[in-house]
Amino acid sequence: MRVGLVQLLAALRTTYGYVHTLSDLRGRQISARQLSDTYDYIVVGGGQSGLVVANRLSENSERSVLVVEYGHFDDNPGQVEPSSAGAWPQRNLFNVSSVPQPGLNNRLGVVYAAAVVGGGSTINGMLFDRGAAEDYDIWERLRNPGWGWRGLLPYFKKSTTFTPPRRELAQEFNITWDIERAYGNGPIHANFPDWQWPGIKIQWEAWKELGMPVNVEGAAGDAWGAYWTPSATDPQYRRSYSRSGYWEPAAERENLKLLTEHRVNEVLFDLNKRATAITIQERGSANDAPKITVKATREIVLCAGWLHTPHILQRSGVGPKALLEEAGIETLVDLPGVGSNLQDHPVYGIGYQYQTDVFPNPTSMFLNATFRTWADEQWQQRKGELLVILYRPRSVGVGNALVTAPLPILDSNYRTILRKGRAQNATEYLPKTYSAQQVGGFIAQRNILLASFGKINNGVVEIPFSGRAGSSLIFMKPLSRGTVLLNTTDIYAEPTIDFNTNINPVDLDIMVATIKYYRKWMATEAMKELTPVETNPGTSVATDEQITAALKSSMGAGAGHSCCTAAMAPREFSGVVSPNLTVYGVTGLSVADLSIVPVIPATHTCATVYAIAEKAADLIKARHDRNIRPSPITPLIDV
Ligand SMILES: Cc1cc2nc3c(=O)[nH]c(=O)nc-3n(C[C@H](O)[C@H](O)[C@H](O)COP(=O)(O)OP(=O)(O)OC[C@H]3O[C@@H](n4cnc5c(N)ncnc54)[C@H](O)[C@@H]3O)c2cc1C
Ligand SMILES: *[C@@H]1O[C@H](CO)[C@@H](O)[C@H](O)[C@H]1NC(C)=O
Ligand SMILES: *[C@@H]1O[C@H](CO)[C@@H](O)[C@H](O)[C@H]1NC(C)=O
Ligand SMILES: *[C@@H]1O[C@H](CO)[C@@H](O)[C@H](O)[C@H]1NC(C)=O
Ligand SMILES: *[C@@H]1O[C@H](CO)[C@@H](O)[C@H](O)[C@H]1NC(C)=O
Ligand SMILES: *[C@@H]1O[C@H](CO)[C@@H](O)[C@H](O)[C@H]1NC(C)=O
Ligand SMILES: *[C@@H]1O[C@H](CO)[C@@H](O)[C@H](O)[C@H]1NC(C)=O
Repeated sequence: MRVGLVQLLAALRTTYGYVHTLSDLRGRQISARQLSDTYDYIVVGGGQSGLVVANRLSENSERSVLVVEYGHFDDNPGQVEPSSAGAWPQRNLFNVSSVPQPGLNNRLGVVYAAAVVGGGSTINGMLFDRGAAEDYDIWERLRNPGWGWRGLLPYFKKSTTFTPPRRELAQEFNITWDIERAYGNGPIHANFPDWQWPGIKIQWEAWKELGMPVNVEGAAGDAWGAYWTPSATDPQYRRSYSRSGYWEPAAERENLKLLTEHRVNEVLFDLNKRATAITIQERGSANDAPKITVKATREIVLCAGWLHTPHILQRSGVGPKALLEEAGIETLVDLPGVGSNLQDHPVYGIGYQYQTDVFPNPTSMFLNATFRTWADEQWQQRKGELLVILYRPRSVGVGNALVTAPLPILDSNYRTILRKGRAQNATEYLPKTYSAQQVGGFIAQRNILLASFGKINNGVVEIPFSGRAGSSLIFMKPLSRGTVLLNTTDIYAEPTIDFNTNINPVDLDIMVATIKYYRKWMATEAMKELTPVETNPGTSVATDEQITAALKSSMGAGAGHSCCTAAMAPREFSGVVSPNLTVYGVTGLSVADLSIVPVIPATHTCATVYAIAEKAADLIKARHDRNIRPSPITPLIDV
């Protein structure tokens, strides 16, 4: 009976993509009453990384795996349509904001933290890119052997399958890719939409006129200059995400269980500081409501994301001693880095209009009912006979071409910026809670980062372009650092988040240069055909001081890429986890989500999360299943 259903579902999947409405796919979802006393592994958080780790660890049918997730299953069919790329439902997010940000004129920073099965991959924009090789080599230079580009590429490949676009589309727009260098046969699908807006051809010309280098395949370590980048969608243009790629294909496994709508409170340790169990509580229940304890014999893997992985560690007595004391928590390990080193990609929306735009263009979907009807008809056909499928405009998510601008191209005076960064007294811009050791850890990051800023093989700012006149200017390499710290009066309330956006003046200097550079792009000969007119901040905003003021008054604190709050680094640099992802000072406990990143890469973070989680699973298997070895660790790069 069960096997028959699985086969039926497999057939349906081949035809229509993933079917979310049939509840039997959730055979492994259990209620609290069905919990066993003990599992081999407990994965904390069934978000993007958690489902990857759970899938890989349960490949061995002799290992039992429990995932505990705070969120619910989102079965809304709209959530897998490309149109969901730009609309994340609040029901799938934690409701929390940052403290006032002085670098944003004391506005509150918007916080993006997923609360749904599949995590960020269920709600994100599906823009599916990777950082440049240099971005990951920075991690390795911070003394994390095995975590440079060479060590991660096998895991990027292992997670992803790429399907090329229609030949005519690729030829018309000169869309380029390189499967050999970038992709493998993994469970997550990447492809290009079946449509591009014609104005993008003029934009490509304008980049070339400006001297921006063009790369054939960003995902092969060359994510700098201008390049095409796919979306995380399957060949039917359905969202391809952690749930479809890693959870649903494991439908027949009896050794994998998921408990949703429960919060993990603490990790419990024995007298040898070995993590042995977690305590959990039903979502929405009062602090003093009954708690359940579940034991893990092998390892507890934290995948609760940048916001709650440090929160759970701190609640469990692993964190900065002074903070824990204030909260009345006994310190098990004084680990000052837990909840520090917070980074994201602050965003400024620059506004332009094309007075003589080509037809059709992105506004045609809103302003021209005839065009919109045609687009809807094209999209409807996917549900009919599967002979000729034309998806066209409705298959587009947030766009597929990026410029990631190296600093020397962005600003010919870039050496002034590098000198300013090197001469800074780091303490002045770091959170007040930073210890001397943490300042030292930051200076190690800063020196390595500034050396990369002077190179052409990586970028500091991303400019996505899709034919629209305006764009989001995404600042990829902040020197500012923030914190996620326990609310010491209620340790179960959401933690206090401080991004410290724009606190380091170097960050704003680079954004000022970016505005000027975008204006140069709009002023190219190629662009004249479209007659661009600046609407925000407007040409009257001209001096560096005026531009800085405009940035502070409207930038956003992040792009949903928050990370780095349980960083992988040597303990003397205030790291939280070692290169094998185990938490310092204890055993039986590791972290496998985006929290482990030491320095944020110049990319949207989803693909990087898959690579981290795949590598984490290999490392965990290697310590518990001796017959399976992880990929060899690459030698330390000397700097
Ligand atoms: C709105 C938005 C748009 C984005 N757009 C893009 C994009 O276009 N391209 C891209 O590459 N990246 C994008 N990202 C970033 C990317 O999706 C995330 O960086 C990534 O999904 C993070 O994965 P994670 O596993 O570290 O955390 P998550 O996926 O957030 O997983 C953490 C999970 O832990 C659960 N949890 C938390 N606390 C507890 C607890 N105490 N007990 C139990 N469970 C708990 C949460 O509910 C969540 O499901 C976007 C992110 C957001 C939020
Ligand atoms: C956030 O608020 C929405 C309502 O706007 C709600 O549906 C959702 O459950 C809340 N998220 C959490 C994690 O509580
Ligand atoms: C197409 O892209 C390739 C690689 O980026 C580039 O070398 C070539 O000049 C482009 N061709 C056109 C017609 O733009
Ligand atoms: C609206 O779209 C139709 C169909 O694509 C097109 O023929 C027409 O020229 C468009 N109208 C305008 C004003 O652009
Ligand atoms: C750096 O700044 C801190 C904080 O403002 C200050 O206490 C310290 O003396 C400064 N160090 C140097 C070398 O100027
Ligand atoms: C801490 O939690 C308490 C109780 O929920 C709340 O009243 C207070 O505002 C929170 N403090 C901060 C800094 O968020
Ligand atoms: C993990 O790394 C730490 C620190 O480098 C080391 O002490 C420990 O032995 C490693 N554990 C395993 C299982 O490799």
